[in-house]
Amino acid sequence: MVEKHMVSISNLVKKYPSGQEALKGVNLEVNANEILALIGPSGAGKSTLIRCVNRLVEPTSGKIIINGIDVCTLGYKALRMQRRKIGMIFQEYALVDRLTVMENVLSGQLGYTGTFKSIFRKFPPDVVDSAIKLLERVGLLDYVDSRADQLSGGQRQRVGIARALIQRPDLLLVDEPTASLDPKTARQIMRLIVELVIEYKLAVIINIHDVQLAQMFAQRIVGLRDGIVVYDGTPDQVDNSVLTEIYGEEDWDQGKKRHAQEEDDDEDDDIDQVE
Ligand SMILES: Nc1ncnc2c1ncn2[C@@H]1O[C@H](COP(=O)(O)OP(=O)(O)OP(=O)(O)O)[C@@H](O)[C@H]1O
Ligand SMILES: [Mg+2]
Repeated sequence: MVEKHMVSISNLVKKYPSGQEALKGVNLEVNANEILALIGPSGAGKSTLIRCVNRLVEPTSGKIIINGIDVCTLGYKALRMQRRKIGMIFQEYALVDRLTVMENVLSGQLGYTGTFKSIFRKFPPDVVDSAIKLLERVGLLDYVDSRADQLSGGQRQRVGIARALIQRPDLLLVDEPTASLDPKTARQIMRLIVELVIEYKLAVIINIHDVQLAQMFAQRIVGLRDGIVVYDGTPDQVDNSVLTEIYGEEDWDQGKKRHAQEEDDDEDDDIDQVE
């Protein structure tokens, strides 16, 4: 049978040894070339979910089929091969500080399970070539030999992006890529990720707290609450009632109302002056 979806997750449950049930039967399908944002309150299970997809977290039960392969049943070697096809970008960048930008990007070629020592293996020229091309694409060509700890947060995330792409994955998992960045840099990083996902024809799942950014850049939004999918739809359908469903009761218009009130007050002042 040909799999219709690139990723097909069914009845996924994750119970941590602490007893915490982080995922309570998640069903989710991701299509090839799809840009999906996963939103939800802190502790909803977003990181757990994407980490189950590459088995950085071991699922308790359920199925995760990627391109027809059930990743939950893979042995160590097969899992390593599978992980090569899945790139990961982290909030905290996860760079090795005392290595150069180039070394950090090349380390992605080993998969994120590669041992630290193996970074110093010789890399074939074509791999070095693609690292340079990627660094140029993410705007870091001038920083190839800089140490990772000399970079700004935005630059570090650009290295993280290049490192995730060097292994030519067909699925990208991204966990809060902008949480430590200022609003403009956050937009630039999201834009870069989305542009590259389209250029490389990947599917991507992006965990993100910023709903506005999710709406701006994703094609589809999935809301997770307390280990369950409670919303799955288009970005423009995410209205106040959806936000309440995902995050709970809140006056979502408060900022807008205050702004409108201030504008009204300004108009009143103008009228006062005319009189
Ligand atoms: N390694 C772990 N051991 C035990 N419990 C964990 C572990 N990792 C996460 N949890 C618990 O599982 C639940 C889901 O956590 P998870 O990190 O997946 O949420 P999240 O949606 O990514 O939250 P955030 O938005 O804060 O990153 C939480 O209750 C958390 O405390
Ligand atoms: Mg998280």
